[in-house]
Amino acid sequence: MGSREESQIRDLGLAPEGHRKIEWAARHMPLLGTLKAQFERQRPFEGLRIGICLHLEAKTAYLAKVVQAGGAEVAVAASNPLSTQDDVVAALVEDGIYAYARCGADEAEYRSHLRALLDRRPDAIIDDGGDLVSTLHRERPEQLREIIGGCEETTTGILRLRALEREGALAFPMIAVNDAYCKYLFDNRYGTGQSVWDGIMRTTNLVVAGKTVVVVGYGWCGKGVAMRARGLGARVVVCEVDPIKAIEAIMDGFSVMPLVEAARQADIVVTVTGNRHAVGREAIEAMKDGALLCNAGHFDVEIDKKALAEGAEVREVRRHVSEYRRPDGRRLYLLAEGRLVNLAAGDGHPVEVMDMTFALQALCLRRVVEEGRRWDPKVYPVPADIDRYVAELRLETMGVRIDRLTEEQRRYLDSWTLQD
Ligand code: ADE
Repeated sequence: MGSREESQIRDLGLAPEGHRKIEWAARHMPLLGTLKAQFERQRPFEGLRIGICLHLEAKTAYLAKVVQAGGAEVAVAASNPLSTQDDVVAALVEDGIYAYARCGADEAEYRSHLRALLDRRPDAIIDDGGDLVSTLHRERPEQLREIIGGCEETTTGILRLRALEREGALAFPMIAVNDAYCKYLFDNRYGTGQSVWDGIMRTTNLVVAGKTVVVVGYGWCGKGVAMRARGLGARVVVCEVDPIKAIEAIMDGFSVMPLVEAARQADIVVTVTGNRHAVGREAIEAMKDGALLCNAGHFDVEIDKKALAEGAEVREVRRHVSEYRRPDGRRLYLLAEGRLVNLAAGDGHPVEVMDMTFALQALCLRRVVEEGRRWDPKVYPVPADIDRYVAELRLETMGVRIDRLTEEQRRYLDSWTLQD
């Protein structure tokens, strides 16, 4: 059966708009364009089935097409049930890619899509958040040895992979794409920084300048969110549990205080911790009438939605904005059901940023299928040559040249005597 009959999507008739979106993204993804041309010539994935579990929007679609151009049969499933763009997946299906995703899928359907992707028996995978790897290990032990290896996109996914590795249960090698310089320095910081505010602003149509923004978590994503909030004119407060990151936030010029204290002043709270109940009952009780709550971490567990809903009257007041009228009369507003606000209520990171991230993904996937059979089942860093190549390509596409070390300088750096 072909991808049209096999796929599980909302409506193939949406494909024309999806093609337009992918075309726009591709126009601004020169790194992936370069790799596509290479892959068309060299066909590194010839005869292989590749399973991709990512946020299914236009940039991801272009990555899927680049992998397909390298000779693979490609199947995609969503890594989050709210971030799927139905028109984009329809376009992929028209282009011969198998797709299992529908925006708004409930938990059972979301899981069934992951299984449907695995039914295509992938030889290698790309995962975002770890749900595909976890489904494989929990439900498909017989399939584990078919997998050459894969790549993981996010901080959350890598934490889960490392937990599997610690238990000695990880069955195939995985490259931690998130931990490449060309990923976290740009995607996590500038990508999240921009896309979170894009999501909040397009969802609420409210001004950020003059508001008090509380950023919970000061990892690379939190750094970007705080930096861009300041740029928009907000007063920014950072909450952290890690003393080193707290000092970083202070030295970056932000106020740092415990969440309950910050919550009393907050107009907007953004969680970016990767952890459960980062905003719990106590903080919710402290928040003032009219405050907005949203999440930019991978799972919708960071805001305690149960505590928020307790005794509250809930209604949707705008698309992606739920009002919780609390028993004491305060109204708190949750964006995008507490899911990733930048993807569930926006288009995800800016295109040029994802061009670098997905160039890393494409090149790491190639490395995995070419060499992974010889690797132990462990979590691997992105090979330094790939990280550097992506940076060089990006500079080239920006038309920026940089200096090189002289031979003399190289010798100086390599010597321990520091003599001539
Ligand atoms: N678009 C596709 N995948 C994404 C991700 N992990 N973060 C932001 N935007 C994306």
